[in-house]
This record gives sequence, C-alpha cells and structure tokens, in this order.
Amino acid sequence: MLFKPFTFPNGTTAKNRFFKSAMEEQLAIDNQPTQALVNLYCTWAKGGAGVLVTGNVMVSPNGKGSVGDVVVSDDRSLPMLKAWADAGKTAGTLMIMQINHAGKQSPKVVNREPVAPSAVHLSEWTVLSIRHELCKRLKLNKLLANSSRPPKSPNKQDLAVCKFTPHTVI
Ligand SMILES: Cc1cc2nc3c(=O)[nH]c(=O)nc-3n(C[C@H](O)[C@H](O)[C@H](O)COP(=O)(O)O)c2cc1C
Repeated sequence: MLFKPFTFPNGTTAKNRFFKSAMEEQLAIDNQPTQALVNLYCTWAKGGAGVLVTGNVMVSPNGKGSVGDVVVSDDRSLPMLKAWADAGKTAGTLMIMQINHAGKQSPKVVNREPVAPSAVHLSEWTVLSIRHELCKRLKLNKLLANSSRPPKSPNKQDLAVCKFTPHTVI
C-alpha cells in the first residue's frame, strides 16, 4: 500500500504514500532560500519520498515564526525558489510549499511589529509582542490578499500545491 500512488481530490498524484510533513528547516539567510535548502530537498527526493511539504514559508517579514524562516514578499528570490522547487521534484516527487503567516505567534526576537486580526495577547506566550495599532483589520486584509496571490514563481509548474496555514490565533 505504501508504495501505491495516491491521487488528491484536485487530481494531483503522488507516486507513493511516503509523506514528509511540514518542518521548519531554519536554513534561510536574510529571509532568502539557500543552497542548503536545495541540497536538503534534493536528498529527500532522491530518498524516494512521494510528497515533500516545505516548512513555513512566510508571506511577510512581519509574520515570521522563527529566525531562519524563508520569506517570499517580493521577486528577489525567484531563481533560488525555482532551484528549491526543482530539487524537491527530483525523481517525480510531489513538492508542496507551505505558505504561512505566524500572526500573534510571531516572537519578539524576530519581529517587533506582528500583524494579527486582534490585539488580544496569548497570555502564556511571554516572548510575543502584539501592538494594538498594528492589528488593524485593514493591514490583515492586505496581508491575506498578498498571500492568496503567491509569488510569480514558484508557480503551478514549479510546485504542485501551495498550502496556506495562517498561524494567526484570533
Ligand atoms: C522540527 C519541527 C518543525 C515543524 N515545523 C512545522 C512547520 O513549519 N509547519 C507546520 O505546519 N508544522 C510543522 N511541524 C509539525 C509537523 O509538520 C507535524 O504536524 C507534527 O510533527 C506531527 O506529526 P506526527 O504526528 O507525524 O509526528 C513541525 C514539527 C517539527 C518536529
């Protein structure tokens, strides 16, 4: 069974059921994807995985969850994003990018100005800093509009699916 193909409801087929879940790699430098990510995903794909889901890829610097997150908020990283996508598709593996916004779970150490749908703190998380003036609905709407429009590349040819995970706790 594990070696049998699996077709998702949208028609995309994975060659087998070995599925690498989203795990933050912490391999970005200055928010940009790196050769280390390319090498890692190439290795995993060569290992025979049917599906590789990337770790969090943030849609805005003010939504980072950790220091080494990749952020795609403009076109500057397109060549490296393409290399990363190509590496993950080695040997017919399905590559899925998880796009994300950490919202109020974005820690102070990476982000002084998080944007979330409400200014209510997560009281148990002392590492967070929610600023009321930055929690305006307008800003969040703009952010969501950006994230529903993924970057020009990776596009449909480069990645099979984009999975949006707003880690924004209301
Ligand atoms: C080191 C590490 C990093 C993770 N990073 C992410 C992530 O970036 N995005 C996400 O949605 N889940 C992340 N997770 C959660 C995993 O994708 C997975 O859901 C979780 O480990 C439970 O899977 P399991 O029941 O197979 O152990 C991470 C987990 C680990 C251990």
